[in-house]
Amino acid sequence: MKNFWQEQIKKYGKLCMLAPMDGYGDSAYRQVIKKIAPHVLCVSEFYSADWLVHSKFLKDEVLPHTKQENPLIMQIFWKNPEMFTKAAKIIEQEKYDMYWIDVNMWCPAKKVVRSGHWSCLLINEQTAFDIVKAMDEATKLPISVKTRLSFDWWQDLIKFGLWLQKAWAKLLTVHGRTAKQAYTWIANWEPIYKLKEELNIPVVWNWDIQNYTDWIKKVKNLDWFMIWRASFWNPWCFIWEKHTKEYDWLDENNFIDWVYHPTLAEILEMMEFHAKVLVETKWEKKWNLEIRKHLVQYLKNFPWVKVYRKRLVTTESFENTKNIISEIRQEFKDFLNKRPGLWEITKESLGIE
Ligand SMILES: Cc1cc2nc3c(=O)[nH]c(=O)nc-3n(C[C@H](O)[C@H](O)[C@H](O)COP(=O)(O)O)c2cc1C
Repeated sequence: MKNFWQEQIKKYGKLCMLAPMDGYGDSAYRQVIKKIAPHVLCVSEFYSADWLVHSKFLKDEVLPHTKQENPLIMQIFWKNPEMFTKAAKIIEQEKYDMYWIDVNMWCPAKKVVRSGHWSCLLINEQTAFDIVKAMDEATKLPISVKTRLSFDWWQDLIKFGLWLQKAWAKLLTVHGRTAKQAYTWIANWEPIYKLKEELNIPVVWNWDIQNYTDWIKKVKNLDWFMIWRASFWNPWCFIWEKHTKEYDWLDENNFIDWVYHPTLAEILEMMEFHAKVLVETKWEKKWNLEIRKHLVQYLKNFPWVKVYRKRLVTTESFENTKNIISEIRQEFKDFLNKRPGLWEITKESLGIE
């Protein structure tokens, strides 16, 4: 189990991961991604180690997941080794079928950082070391860390990376900004390439990758990449031309410049699948609020369905959603094989004034 990554690299070569996404990356979303691209490794939304230890809800509702999401990675955060270790022991229970645990040393939110969590561990290097080491000793699952270049510029990424490797971290995901920069400034790849030169463990890049092909251009010596935002409106972003040999459902004609552009028919099918699995995994009232934000994203590149998008953001039930999708299918039946991602469907082509 501890050699998990080495086995994955042997099996797939360069690999991609779905980033952890609080409020978005739930079981249904992960099932969508895995249905499209089974090679992707998914990370859960973050959960506090403390909450995990004390909450029945998390143990009953969040840790259990479908087989389709495997190999699933559980991400947790907290501030001291004791609680992390307790949480790790729960996560590793066989019934939860988790493959590894990721430690969040990434989030820059001031309120939580001030209390010693998240990216604050970039300053508290000894605590960061103790957390990873204690978890590695306490569980058979491999431990990875999602982090940033540093807390502020005066810290040394290579020193920190070597430090975590020494504590037996098995993989690092690095975002090319400091915690102080949060989401501002342009992300910097160079320190991450340099970090990889010094480490023996896989290093994953995370920031602003649009799709697999975009990644291939930037990869250099790095091992894997992790995507969040691009997958939100384009869950097909993880596949590229080479996958046609692996996935018999892929239509080779849908690749332009190695980037997969789903047809309108595929998009509508996936919207329906997403709505269905979400309703299966969450209760209806919560489902309404959650599915709306996803459904409108799927149609982002298809402006001529504005009126349907308006209805989708207020959809009340799965039945209602299915009906709206059927209406789109019906109205655009002559365009189901076109690829909205390429803006092939124009106002003119539809005869809309
Ligand atoms: C709404 C939202 C929720 C996020 N949730 C998490 C999270 O739970 N854990 C985490 O480590 N990062 C989280 N992130 C950061 C993403 O995982 C990722 O690092 C970031 O979006 C950069 O990748 P991208 O350029 O592919 O979007 C979140 C980001 C956003 C915008």
